[in-house]
Amino acid sequence: MSDRSCLTIILAAGEGTRMKSTLPKVLHKVAGLEMLGHVMKTARDSGSSEIALVVGHGADQVGAAARALSENFSVSSFLQERQLGTADAVLAARSAIEKKFDDVLVLFGDAPLIRPQALDAMRGALAEGAHVAVMGFRTDTPEGYGRLLERDGALVGIREEKDCSEEERRIRFCNGGAMALAGAQALELLDRIGNDNAKGEYYLTDIVGIATDAGLQVRAVEADEEDALGVNNRAELARAEAIWQNRRREELMLAGVTMMAPHTVYLAHDTEIGADAVIEPNVFFGPGAKVAAGAVIRAFSHIEEASVAAGAQIGPYARLRPGAEVMENAKIGNFCEIKKSRIGEGAKVPHLSYVGDADIGAGANIGAGTITCNYDGFGKHRTEIGDNAFVGTNSSLVAPLKIGAGAYIASGSVVTQDVPDDALAFGRARQSTREGRGKMLRDRLKKQAGK
Ligand code: UD1
Ligand code: CA
Repeated sequence: MSDRSCLTIILAAGEGTRMKSTLPKVLHKVAGLEMLGHVMKTARDSGSSEIALVVGHGADQVGAAARALSENFSVSSFLQERQLGTADAVLAARSAIEKKFDDVLVLFGDAPLIRPQALDAMRGALAEGAHVAVMGFRTDTPEGYGRLLERDGALVGIREEKDCSEEERRIRFCNGGAMALAGAQALELLDRIGNDNAKGEYYLTDIVGIATDAGLQVRAVEADEEDALGVNNRAELARAEAIWQNRRREELMLAGVTMMAPHTVYLAHDTEIGADAVIEPNVFFGPGAKVAAGAVIRAFSHIEEASVAAGAQIGPYARLRPGAEVMENAKIGNFCEIKKSRIGEGAKVPHLSYVGDADIGAGANIGAGTITCNYDGFGKHRTEIGDNAFVGTNSSLVAPLKIGAGAYIASGSVVTQDVPDDALAFGRARQSTREGRGKMLRDRLKKQAGK
């Protein structure tokens, strides 16, 4: 990471019409995090000291989201009243640029896949003396992108597609959108940009020609096509999602996580999985999921804002909802839903249960079909189950409720009163059996049916 000071300007004033959405474009999510959040995170990870966000369409909503996403980071919003082009947008943050940072990065809020390495490379070019560094990429499908114009191997201009000649249109080295400007010259160069082009907009890209003419150093830094992907519609949003997922799955696998069908595993932006964990096919992680080393998440499980400790086993077909905390070597089996509950070390909830607002002790066994009745239509109530307790199958535990350590609950009980340690509790009707009456009943029913 560079020790040069850096301002990152994120452009997010555009309307995003092609998303066909009431939600501003940059607030659409990739891996459960707003695109804007991805860009902010990347800026922060590559050592940006300040973020200036340029807002326009949906300004209030975008600004509020940015504040929520910024954690302890300083983000100031600048309003671009009318969308007169990318250079005009950058100049909306004039007062931030005036603070003369060493480096000024310009990123787009709708290009969430840009990685810190790409930013480091551009800033590296500035550190080596360049005044403008442009993120370029090579592609077989350059349509829609600005083309990089080179002379004797040096970047001398960027031409927007609409302004390209036939010949220029064939160039496959394109502008990825992101740019780094030397803070000392940035304003002077930006102020010289005009709007004499096919769209009548102030193009940030014109800064390259202007800097070249002024005898300043301009560099194209080559990045991966994926880093440049801009999202304009939902199909591109899905493409960005797929690329993001592939990258992260690859990272996790290289860090020691086993996935037998990685393309069926969906991760969130902050999913953490330890080495030697096994993730079976078709597992979905929502935000806030942590899986420790050696845990096994079996097929078709859904995990969100939940943690799974080392050696624990989840699923197949389990759902861990927010606040589920599964401790070491515990087991949550098929068709179980766990919410806001701690499942103690080595405890088992093996089949068909709902456990909500509960604290289950170490080594406890929760029989099939057990339900914590935690909600009375108004409030939620807690169930506490002690270490090594045994809850028989198909029990309803009516909260608030305490079941002591080592206690036994008879199968099929509806438990409404606290059960002390080591007690045996029955909460069910007594069985009555009538000899021969089964046959009598069948004969009668048969006769009635005329058979
Ligand atoms: C831009 C580049 C193009 C590059 C491409 C990469 C310019 C002139 N062109 O084109 O060379 O290949 O990105 O994806 O820069 N925005 C504002 N205010 C404005 C205009 C735009 O905030 O007045 C924001 C948009 O919300 C968006 C970003 O700037 O986040 C880029 O604008 P967009 O219109 O999408 O530029 P492109 O035509 O894609
Ligand atoms: Ca674009």
